[in-house]
Amino acid sequence: MNFKNNPSTTFRDIHALTSAQASLEIQALREGIEYHNSLYYVKNRPKIADGVYDKLFRRLQDLEAAFPEFQSNTSPTQQVGAEPVEELKKIEHSAPMLSLNATLEKTEVEDFLRLVTRKAGARTITYVLEPKFDGLSLEVVYEHGVFRRAATRGDGHTGEAVSANMRMIKGLPLRCEGSPPRFLAVRGELFMNKDDFRRINKKLIEQGEDPFTNPRNAAASIVRRLNPKVVERRPLSIVFYDILKVEGARCSSHWDELKRLAEWGLMTDSHNARCTSFEEILTYHQKMEAERNDLDYEIDGVVIKLDDLARRQALGVRQRSPRWAFAWKFTPRQEVTTLEDIVVQVGMSGILTPVALLRPVDVGGVTISRATLHNEQEVQKKDLRPGDKVRVARAGDVIPEVVSRVGSLTTGRGKRFVMPDICPACGSRVRKEGAATICPAGLSCSAQLVGHLTHFASREAMNITGLGETTAWQLVDSRLAKNIADLYDLSTKQFLQLDGIRSAIGGGAVSGYPRRERRSAGSVSLRPRHSACGVACGPYAGAGLSNSRCE
Ligand code: IVH
Repeated sequence: MNFKNNPSTTFRDIHALTSAQASLEIQALREGIEYHNSLYYVKNRPKIADGVYDKLFRRLQDLEAAFPEFQSNTSPTQQVGAEPVEELKKIEHSAPMLSLNATLEKTEVEDFLRLVTRKAGARTITYVLEPKFDGLSLEVVYEHGVFRRAATRGDGHTGEAVSANMRMIKGLPLRCEGSPPRFLAVRGELFMNKDDFRRINKKLIEQGEDPFTNPRNAAASIVRRLNPKVVERRPLSIVFYDILKVEGARCSSHWDELKRLAEWGLMTDSHNARCTSFEEILTYHQKMEAERNDLDYEIDGVVIKLDDLARRQALGVRQRSPRWAFAWKFTPRQEVTTLEDIVVQVGMSGILTPVALLRPVDVGGVTISRATLHNEQEVQKKDLRPGDKVRVARAGDVIPEVVSRVGSLTTGRGKRFVMPDICPACGSRVRKEGAATICPAGLSCSAQLVGHLTHFASREAMNITGLGETTAWQLVDSRLAKNIADLYDLSTKQFLQLDGIRSAIGGGAVSGYPRRERRSAGSVSLRPRHSACGVACGPYAGAGLSNSRCE
């Protein structure tokens, strides 16, 4: 019985099967489904139609239900949500998960090569070149080829166990292919494809929920969810690039390691390459930077690794980064747009921040319409005024920032920005603390209260669906929430009295009980009429936006 090639989907009546026959069929189905999972999710070249796959999968589920004695937690049918947990357990890694020294400078890459050449004492040194994936670093452990556990990087020695959630990731085999080693701890990067990221964010915004800031943040937030059933529906992938510890297999080079990982059914990247000179590294860096926008996952540089594992040993580790590897990052993406206005935002801690309102511009696939200007001095140092053309970058390729003014416009410029001396949200006199301007009113400042409410409701905290900035403002303005505890006393009736909620009912926005992963704070799922902030301004979704006083 073989379900790998041209599998038949005509099956015998389950009730007519003996236990031995069922066992054989279950075994063959599991092998077939794992094989097709690998072709589909890891190798990207499926061999059977989705409908055929579904039939095989359903047959396996039926057989396991009819013959429970053959159930196994490594069966592909077990890649379905386990029960929610209270918190993620801490686990120690099999070997330290080191970080990488990184640079933007070509000369530092040359210095790195010189150091390696000198220490390795050889004329020709082979390097492996890989994309630097912008995801979440994980350790995944297999014993005798069977998935055992997965953990986030944490502090490099101890991470959080995310095994139940990782079981949901279809591209992660629960069982290795070929002849896997006795023990394998492998490091990889979990990520969300750019297309999936856009699609999910669009849906979140339509539902009145906060979008994810970027694909990395999406992957990190999803895999740390306490309820694996939520993870099941989210499209995440994992690519492997390092063996942390192996027993029962021997590799002498990193290239060999990558080859073996692929043989064991663990996805490696097709852009990985080998070279022996700086010129080749430069060409690879340029090529990957040019292709970066066309890839369907985010990368933010390339990683250069010494190929020979024995030589790596000799070079060792300095602080928490190995001397045998180096990341050469890409220059942050930048675009030019118009600064339309400078407004002041009051954050949850009371800090007043000038924020640039920009003519929306696409910076590497993300639309930027707001950017932080940090503080008053920063605005003055860059001499930014409404009407100016400005260069915008995604700092660390994530948070939008105004890099500089472009050109030397002298007419048609707006007024010079001055930080107000009263809080634009509550009218309290502000105080200065170094470069910062602070509203001292605490929770009696509506903007700070809104900041606290939205933070409390955010995905990272209580994860209350729909309690975004717009709704929080309504609760504060209508004095229904004067502090966080008030959320627990709100009645459905009070919620329904809110303007946005009332008009949203027509659009089906209020939908019964809150979707909750920990505890609920109210009794109605709130969805504001519109998202108060778009993808670009996620990190600055504070409150108290107000026009600045310009002189
Ligand atoms: S190798 C020390 N290779 O970049 C060697 N890391 O600190 C182990 N990263 O969080 C890391 N792509 O998760 C390596 N091809 C790649 C990588 C990579 C992305 C991440 C890694 C780490 C960060 C740098």
